[in-house]
Amino acid sequence: MAVHQNPMWENFLSPMVRFLIDEEKWRRYADSIDWEKQSDRLRQPDVIIPSYYDSQNFHGVEGGYLNPQAAVSYDPITQYVLLPNETVVRQALIDAVKVQPRRILDLGCGTGSTTLMLKQAFPQAEVIGLDLSPYMLVRAEDKARRAGLDIRWRHGNAEKTNFRDGAFDLVTASLLFHEIPSVVCQAILRESFRLLVAGGQILVLDGNQKTLHQLDWLNDIFEEPYIREYAAGNLAANISAVGFAAVQTQDVWWVNQVNSGVKPISSTDVNAQKKVQQYNPISIDSTIDNNDLEDFGSPVFGITA
Ligand SMILES: C[S@@+](CC[C@H](N)C(=O)[O-])C[C@H]1O[C@@H](n2cnc3c(N)ncnc32)[C@H](O)[C@@H]1O
Repeated sequence: MAVHQNPMWENFLSPMVRFLIDEEKWRRYADSIDWEKQSDRLRQPDVIIPSYYDSQNFHGVEGGYLNPQAAVSYDPITQYVLLPNETVVRQALIDAVKVQPRRILDLGCGTGSTTLMLKQAFPQAEVIGLDLSPYMLVRAEDKARRAGLDIRWRHGNAEKTNFRDGAFDLVTASLLFHEIPSVVCQAILRESFRLLVAGGQILVLDGNQKTLHQLDWLNDIFEEPYIREYAAGNLAANISAVGFAAVQTQDVWWVNQVNSGVKPISSTDVNAQKKVQQYNPISIDSTIDNNDLEDFGSPVFGITA
């Protein structure tokens, strides 16, 4: 794997991570999978890789996520960088879900750690993980299979998915937005708005913008080409700007944050309003109608958008 010169990574973090992780175990795991064959199965030939994605190095790895080593090394490293604990941080997103979701889309799902937790928390929901890297999806799929979780994995660009309008009642993104330029962030938020049913919720878990902005040296720890742009921004304002209401930011310890927004139900949409009133979370049919969430109205309860 070609590694870019990054003194902080090479002199400090890489030796520390090497000491902590069982490299031999992960090498055996990497060798146990035919990455090209498995990624070809998931790869969608019509997906165009944007230049911001493959022209940059991420975390010191040249070519970013478009190689199997990125997919294998992601989990062992991430477990040590999410403070105070990876599960606690990811659970903050799960705890912020205010809808009773029947169909969930996890954008930039990577190796699927949050996606798996979503499926465990909402077993009745259809859960789809979408990512630009087929290698990350191979790893995600393998994790789901081992955990006995039925999740669909989709190769695609979160800026422009092929799902129809109003297909989901929960759209999530964890640790995605600090890795993309702000114009891409806006495009993904617009796409999320389109994909959500009225009353549906967006949840974004990522680095804490206040902290990253104040402690600029944190942005040098990993090679993250867009993290300063992310730290200087205001995700809550961006989420509001594309039309979401009830936008909230919750700090998760001091290093992460969860942002939430709700797609408003138009006050003139009498049908949607009626369906919201009829909606009873306890009576959800476990056989989800794959085509008609829009007709079902809002799954939201406890939120006035
Ligand atoms: C830091 S990882 C986060 C992975 C996972 N969500 C997690 O919480 O561990 C960022 C992921 O976003 C994916 N990604 C970046 N830009 C994307 C885009 N435009 N569409 C879909 N996935 C994207 C990358 O391939 C990578 O897997």
